[in-house]
Amino acid sequence: MDRVLISGGTGLIGKHLTAKLKEKGYNVALLSRNTGQKTGLQLYHWDPGKSEIDSGAISDADFIIHLAGANIGERRWTRERRKLILESRVKSGDLLLRSVTANNNKLKAFISASAVGYYGAITSDKIFYEEDPPSSDFLGETCLKWEQSADRFEEKGIRTIKIRTGVVLSSHGGALAKMIIPVKMGVGSAIGNGEQYMTWIHVEDLCNIYVKAIEDVKMRGAYNAAAPDHRTNKEFTKSLAQALRKPFWFPNIPAFALKILFGEMSDILLKGSRVSSEKLISEGYSFKFPDLENALNNLFR
Ligand SMILES: NC(=O)c1ccc[n+]([C@@H]2O[C@H](COP(=O)([O-])OP(=O)(O)OC[C@H]3O[C@@H](n4cnc5c(N)ncnc54)[C@H](OP(=O)(O)O)[C@@H]3O)[C@@H](O)[C@H]2O)c1
Repeated sequence: MDRVLISGGTGLIGKHLTAKLKEKGYNVALLSRNTGQKTGLQLYHWDPGKSEIDSGAISDADFIIHLAGANIGERRWTRERRKLILESRVKSGDLLLRSVTANNNKLKAFISASAVGYYGAITSDKIFYEEDPPSSDFLGETCLKWEQSADRFEEKGIRTIKIRTGVVLSSHGGALAKMIIPVKMGVGSAIGNGEQYMTWIHVEDLCNIYVKAIEDVKMRGAYNAAAPDHRTNKEFTKSLAQALRKPFWFPNIPAFALKILFGEMSDILLKGSRVSSEKLISEGYSFKFPDLENALNNLFR
């Protein structure tokens, strides 16, 4: 069976994806900066910041899935943090390419994470499609450079797919784990004016999309990975409260408080437009959780 190497595979998406790929019979190995972790998988060391990589990881890989990157929502975006967010994705991608070239590896595909932040922090009713241009804000520029580093694989003749991901819903962490804390305490409320869209995807759909990217040789280029059910922050939080059988009546959290707390990073909470999943659907992908209520009920069942 084909061997899939996942960079950053120890994170939220990587853990789910690893389980899915193993279930499908793939041979999975991970690239990590910390090979002391217990994962039950073959772990190869790398340190993209120092351009270090265990070349054994690359020589046997049929597919590389590039998930690695410093977490975008973990800390305030200081100058150093922005640099780390960008370089941990781009320099690591460049290191993978150098390693693939040096090993003369006949990779079948390179699949990179990207984010719907590509389209920018804008609140509008516009629906963004894959051919729309990137935004010039921090996340837009980061996603552009991240995807350009992936495109260098395509320039070498390797099929390359970029998965522009919305907020991933999982019961094992990520944004949802943070969102449910106030809701469980009975004080869940919308953020800002609550009219910003929240582009979301159930983690199982996201993993299925990665599997499709491996198996469907027609897939190439950028794909939005976002459920077709477009919800504003207010609608999303209300559904979350309903799924957890909690009240939803508290006044909105004022935007200024989040700006003081998080600086520009508050944009990921306060702004958002709609993102189309039509391209994936038209190429045969069928969402297991196309609507929010079913997705939340599945996660909280
Ligand atoms: N989760 C979401 O809602 C979401 C939405 C859109 C896009 N994405 C993107 O999808 C990818 C995976 O997301 P995730 O939620 O699984 O992320 P995550 O849980 O934060 O895991 C990312 C992994 O990247 C590695 N990493 C962290 N900092 C790094 C650094 N400075 N240099 C190199 N590697 C580093 C870590 O692995 P090691 O410690 O083992 O090296 C970590 O486990 C990320 O690029 C993320 O931006 C996620």
